This record gives sequence, structure tokens and C-alpha cells, in this order.
Amino acid sequence: MPFKKEKILIVDDELIIRELLFDLLTDEGFSVELAPDGETALKTIHEDSEIAVLFTDIMMPKMDGITLIHKARELNPGIVPIIMTGYATIETARAAVKEGAYDYVLKPFNITEIKTVVNNALERNRLIQENARLKEITELFKISENISAIRDEEQLFRFILNAALEHTQAKRGSILEVVEDGKYLKVVASTGLPSEFNGKTIPVDFKTVSGIVVKNIEPLLIEDISQNPDLQNFLIGLKNTSFISVPLQRKKSEFMESHPLAINEQDVIAVLNVTDKLDGETFSETDLKVLKIIANHGSSAIENARLIHEIESAQREIVFTLGEIVETRSRETGSHVKRVAEYSKLLASKLGLSNKEAEILRLASPLHDVGKVGIPDAILNKPGPLTPSEFDVIKTHTTIGYDMLSKTKGVVLQSAAIIALEHHERFDGNGYPNGKKGKDIHIFGRIVGIADVFDALGVERVYKRAWTLDEIKEYFAEQRGKQFDPDLVDIFFSNIEEVLQIRERFPEKD
Ligand SMILES: [Fe+2]
Ligand SMILES: [Fe+2]
Repeated sequence: MPFKKEKILIVDDELIIRELLFDLLTDEGFSVELAPDGETALKTIHEDSEIAVLFTDIMMPKMDGITLIHKARELNPGIVPIIMTGYATIETARAAVKEGAYDYVLKPFNITEIKTVVNNALERNRLIQENARLKEITELFKISENISAIRDEEQLFRFILNAALEHTQAKRGSILEVVEDGKYLKVVASTGLPSEFNGKTIPVDFKTVSGIVVKNIEPLLIEDISQNPDLQNFLIGLKNTSFISVPLQRKKSEFMESHPLAINEQDVIAVLNVTDKLDGETFSETDLKVLKIIANHGSSAIENARLIHEIESAQREIVFTLGEIVETRSRETGSHVKRVAEYSKLLASKLGLSNKEAEILRLASPLHDVGKVGIPDAILNKPGPLTPSEFDVIKTHTTIGYDMLSKTKGVVLQSAAIIALEHHERFDGNGYPNGKKGKDIHIFGRIVGIADVFDALGVERVYKRAWTLDEIKEYFAEQRGKQFDPDLVDIFFSNIEEVLQIRERFPEKD
């Protein structure tokens, strides 16, 4: 069955031939345009982009068929030319094919032959159009800085849905994310749906379209719903004649198949639905291909974004766990490093460091005592006072920590190296290991120095009781400008309410 939008242009200087072909092809259901010469034909092609097949005589006055084919191609590269030749030999026709004609027919016409040639040409045109469209969309994703730069999942889903709607010319669509171990679907993006659907979570029902797609992990293209009475159930109330539903699949290799991780990862991340084509037409196989490409790129982007999040939080966990191990060995608790991290970030923000700098400090500060892994237990946990030479050994936890961390790359661990080195320096220059003074001490070192001592004084240990807030304030007032940066001490204590809130949020565990 010919597609109604695809037109055939017949060019011949003989009226009788034009009329004959017109009748013949219109009877077959094709849409046909006529032109008596090359000039008129080019004008028609220029004005009507839906001309799919150019049926032209070879010998015509003014412009010959071969020239017409070349010029027509410049106007519409997808047009499929067919040569008609009356008196010439097969050789002339073959030469025309070499010059770019798709096929040829010999006069006098045979109706079956014409039908076959035209249908083949239309099929060819469809392929050309389809390839151009697929190429366009693949390019879109390749060059799109957007999709790989988007870290936010909500934005990614939105981007994917918009691309799907745009490239299938659909008015309505949605993305339903598979959540809660595959038991529910959540509307994470939608266009043309009532607003109450946004964010809605619905149990997966294998009798609905989205449910079937999740279950079978196969796309579904329905050209006409009335032909598929089983598929009348839509999870979110969509009811339409034609739609496509494709899964956004997780990619995994066969090697992971036999040894799944304990975490319950679903094979389908989400379902992408489109319906209501703008021109009221049904969705085609090409639309389905387009959606598969979008779903493929989209699911990769989502997996990448999730992986980056996971790496970031894994790094955070590793840093805290390492800090905790060290603190536990030296009779501190895990909560100590968490509080020091939060106090440090708070003080950094109040001082006027950027959000990013404050966050880096928060991530790096738990490692301030990591060098203690290099201190023998007998000294680190010695009951009672240390001898001067034992204290000298303790002091080396700063340089040991620095040596461990400074070999690493990345701003967080480089910051941690500086903090490890300088958190025992004193503002008056009497600290260790280098006796740095005043603002020569890195701001991170000066901040963590205050946060660390403030926290250590306030908690109870086997060898000491917890100091009261007044006692701590008194100590800091006395050490202001000696052990500590005086400006930082002032800022810290003028925000003492927030400091105490942090202390409550991370209490000592038994
Ligand atoms: Fe320390
Ligand atoms: Fe500490």
C-alpha cells in the first residue's frame, strides 16, 4: 500500500504519456504530479518536499533527463529518479543508471513493471529518509554535551522524554522509573498528562502496557490499539490508538549474570512511553528505531550519573571509615571525626570560604590523624603521661599522614595531606611539626586545629572527664592568638548555637 504523503512526479514532453502514466498510477492509489519539462519539474521539486520519486523521460527539449536528475538531487538528495526511455537501447538506460538513476523502464509500458519499479523506488526513498533520520538522532546524542553533563537524574529523564517527543513528533509521553525492587513504577517525567500523575508511584501490573514492557524487556509498538484488545489497560490512564513503549535497560555483561551482587538491581531502569502523533498518524517502525536509540543512550547516561554519585559517596565513606579506624585506635570514637568534619565546614562557611572549599574541607578533615597508623600502640595508647621522647614519636603522626596522603591525586586528598601536616601548628609559632606561624599556617590547618580541640575537650574519655562548655570557652579565650587563630576563635564561638546542634546530631556511641 502506497504511503499517502509520498508523491511521484512525472516529467515528459509528450502530453499523452503524462496522461497515461497519471491515470495508471492514480488508479494504483499513488499521489501524482505532472511536469512537461525539466524547468517546471525543478520548480515543483523545490516547492514540494514530499516528491519521493522522479519519473522522467530521457530525451526532452530544453533540459534532458540526466541533467534534470542531477539538479533534482541538489534540491532533494533523498529523491529517487527513474528513467523512461522509448527508442533507445538498453545501453542508454544503463548509462542513465550510472549517472544516478535508480532504475529504468522501457516504453511502451507494462503496467506490472511500472508498479514494481515505483514501489521499489518508494521503498528506497523510505530507507533514505529513515537513514537520514536515524543518522540525525545518533548525531544528536553524540554531539550533545547536555546528556553526558547532566548529573541530576530528574533532569536526565526530562531530557530523554523531550528528545523522544521531538523525534517521534508525539504530543504526549511519560517515563516511569522502576522503583522498590521492581514492584512499583514512578512517574519521573511526563508531558501532556494531568499534573497529578507527576511523582506518582503505582504498583507494577503485568496486564498494563508499561508492566508488560518491564516484564518482557521488549519494546512495544502498537499501530492501532483496536487491533489489540488485550492492551487496553494503561497504568496512567493513557488511552490512544497508537503508541510506543520502550524499556530503558541496564547494561550488564554475561560475566555478572551468574554471580549477582547482594543489591537488588532491576534489569529495567524505566519505561519510556509516547503517544498522540502530532499529525494524527500512527507510529512507524522508524519511530520505534528512534526511540530505541534514545532509550539506549538515555539508559547509559542514567547509569553513568548513578555511578558517579556512587563513587562520590563511596569516597566519602572510605575517608570517614579510615578516619574512624585511626581515631578508634587512639581511643577516640567514630563520632569524633564526623563532628570535626561538620564543625570545620561550618567554620569555613562562616569565615567566607566558598561552598566548594567548605565541602572539600568537610571531606578531607576526617583524615587529620591518619598518620597515627604509623605510631606504635605502646606509645599511642600508653596509660599515663608520655616521656619527651615518646611525645616526639607522637608528633610524627603529622608528617607520616602528610607523606601518606600527599602522593595522591585529587583536591580532597591533597587537602587532607595539608590538614594532617598542619593541624598541630600553633598561631604563635610554637606548634609542630614545622613551627609555622600565623597566617602561614594553611587555613584548613587552622580551622581543623580549632574543631579538633573543641571536640576532644567536650567529650569524656577513660583518662579524662568531659569539660563543660564554660570551661572550653575559657580555654579558647586564653589560647586565642596563642594556640589558635584569634579571628577564627571569635567566629567559631559567635556561632556556638550551630556548633552545639552539630554535637547533638552526632552523639558519642557506647
Ligand atoms: Fe592530631
Ligand atoms: Fe582528632
